[in-house]
Amino acid sequence: MSKRIEVHDLNVYYGKFKAVEGVSLTVEPRTVTAFIGPSGCGKSTFIRTLNRMHEVIPGAYVEGRVLLDGDNLYGPGVDPVRVRRTVGMVFQRPNPFPTMSIKENVLAGVRLNGQRLSATASADLVERSLRGANLWNEVKDRLNSPGSGLSGGQQQRLCIARAIAVQPEVILMDEPCSALDPISTIAIEDLIGELKEQYTVVIVTHNMQQAARVSDQTAFFNLAAQGKPGRLIEIGSTEKIFSNPDEKATEDYITGRFG
Ligand SMILES: Nc1ncnc2c1ncn2[C@@H]1O[C@H](COP(=O)(O)OP(=O)(O)OP(=O)(O)O)[C@@H](O)[C@H]1O
Ligand SMILES: [Mg+2]
Repeated sequence: MSKRIEVHDLNVYYGKFKAVEGVSLTVEPRTVTAFIGPSGCGKSTFIRTLNRMHEVIPGAYVEGRVLLDGDNLYGPGVDPVRVRRTVGMVFQRPNPFPTMSIKENVLAGVRLNGQRLSATASADLVERSLRGANLWNEVKDRLNSPGSGLSGGQQQRLCIARAIAVQPEVILMDEPCSALDPISTIAIEDLIGELKEQYTVVIVTHNMQQAARVSDQTAFFNLAAQGKPGRLIEIGSTEKIFSNPDEKATEDYITGRFG
């Protein structure tokens, strides 16, 4: 249920603007990789290329290859909708469907995929996904209440439950805790630790402590100059990046000297 991601020399464009240049990296299955770097260096842009969400923006495209267990996501004939089923995404702001119940929110992705489930099968899937997102105990008595009635941290876990209900192999998270209080943040961080037992996880974060706490591997992105494309400066084990990085720019960033 978990796949290896290999990126080869990826350039990412918005029309004529090259936002990210020359990224190559590998993410092993059942690990957490954190993307860090100053605002505007292309972390969100790059993470969205890992499930072909980038190209939903008019004029946006990529050059290069992204392999999932050896298969190029951008190969001819590959269906982007299928890619997004395999590689799920959780966004910065919790975005449950406000008029849908908690239960319907969990099933939303499965329904979009056109899967038909019996009542028992959907009840099972709802429970399994909510347990997987560490939310079951808090909501099991109100599955038919609106998802929008949950706290921000609960809504974010609901979105994670929705993402895992479609049984992806990879979960991408773009600053999943930036709208959350410290207690909810810890709940999500604990959950990330559990998710990596089954999934390949990639997370963008501005919180250095969070990157250090949750990830096995850290990638530091930066801009050479204003208006230039973002680049991957350094990637390595989180322990190394935070204690003894090869690049001075990495050290300056993690110690808070810029960014
Ligand atoms: N939809 C878009 N159309 C055109 N340019 C965009 C679009 N989205 C982002 N960009 C540009 O791409 C570059 C990278 O932006 P991106 O959002 O990926 O940065 P980021 O590292 O995620 O920043 P932050 O930490 O602030 O979230 C920026 O110059 C940004 O202005
Ligand atoms: Mg971003």
